Amino acid sequence: MDKYVIEGGRKLYGSVALQAAKNSVLPLLAASILTEKRVVIRDTPAISDVSCMAQILRELGAEVRFSGGDVIIDSAAASNHAISSRLTGELRSSVFMIGSLLTRFRRALIAYPGGCDIGLRPIDLHLNALKQLGVSISERDGCIFCECDRLKGAELQLDFPSVGATENIMLAAVMAEGRTVLAGAAKEPEIVDLQNFLNCMGARVAGAGTDVIEIDGVHALGGATYRPMKDRIEAGTFLIACAVCGGEVETRGLAPENLRLLLHKLRENGCKIHTKNDKIRIESKGRLKCNRRIETMPFPGFPTDLQAQATALNAAADGGALIVENLFETRFKYVPELIKMGADIEVTGRTAFVRGQKRLHGASVVAGDLRGGAALVVAALGAEGGSEVLDLSHIDRGYADFRGKLKALGAEIRRVRV
Ligand code: EPZ
Repeated sequence: MDKYVIEGGRKLYGSVALQAAKNSVLPLLAASILTEKRVVIRDTPAISDVSCMAQILRELGAEVRFSGGDVIIDSAAASNHAISSRLTGELRSSVFMIGSLLTRFRRALIAYPGGCDIGLRPIDLHLNALKQLGVSISERDGCIFCECDRLKGAELQLDFPSVGATENIMLAAVMAEGRTVLAGAAKEPEIVDLQNFLNCMGARVAGAGTDVIEIDGVHALGGATYRPMKDRIEAGTFLIACAVCGGEVETRGLAPENLRLLLHKLRENGCKIHTKNDKIRIESKGRLKCNRRIETMPFPGFPTDLQAQATALNAAADGGALIVENLFETRFKYVPELIKMGADIEVTGRTAFVRGQKRLHGASVVAGDLRGGAALVVAALGAEGGSEVLDLSHIDRGYADFRGKLKALGAEIRRVRV
């Protein structure tokens, strides 16, 4: 197990070359088995969630190669419709493989992807929608078995704009008989990326990015070479790190409208934000002001995946902030670790009340989940003195070369084998 050793107090300067979005690459990999033709996904980040998804595809019988940052998938030989519990336990988002497996094999057997450190994460919305597409579903010994003679298009309504359920439905409807109209769809930019990728393969999907997506089933899909969108959560994490440390940082390759609410909140903190085409630049000097209130919401609201990082910022700013986590039940598990660094935060249910401190101090803290771990790094970079952040396996799931990119901006951070 590795740890980061961080000396706080360095300002950050420079520009960040963003990775491809983890939450786009994963559904694209799931979609790659919809065709027997070759699929190439360009510039995929070297993160463990991508390696895990590659293992899942190999377990299904596909050939998966990594070459110079690209992932090349040949799934002509794929014949297995079952995903092991070991892999669904490691990667919850494997659940949207169900849609692809049903389209390819008319069957899917997947171990129930359990909850994780941020909440129960049920999949009822996925399963209810699949049933309306003609899928019969049985659950036994912690496994879900889905099968259908033919997927039939339907008029669907999601009670909640679930990202994964929206993606699963798109993957199940893309070659179904007739038209599927999905109302109440999630509007995240990664859904638009999935639509664009599927259409590159010859699908007929329209409306992604709005709450109504229309999918006209086609008879076959071809191969595709595709460069996914950049990672808006990685970009947001670096912008918040610069806000906390002071300095001037620019991200490239991501349109500002993907982070509108974050940029609005960073301006509220007293940072200067300049945007031009696909460049976002932040300037942070002097004391930050607390945000008073941040509520996480489905896109285009404030992203839940930046909630922990924004809480870390408010913990060392002037005033108080109310942070409300509306998406997941238990996404404040990183707070006790921030308190070890001198933060004054009270959590009641889905709300955290933050009393901003002059500055946090270094401490030895443990990362418990991906975004909570990133928040602890952000806090340590701005804290007085030295810190260590233990158990980097969570951070490695979603940030490629996190240390290298932060060091290139001027951070004093080392990765040490424990
Ligand atoms: C995706 O997860 C992302 N993961 C998450 O990012 C992100 O936090 C989340 O969307 C919200 O934006 C990937 O894209 C791989 P949801 P997903 O279905 O699809 C409830 C990260 O850090 N729900 O939109 O699992 C669910 O419990 C990760 O990169 C049901 O109740 O999110 C949650 O409370 C973390 N029933 C809420 O909806 C269902 O059938 C949002 O879940 C499905 C979801």
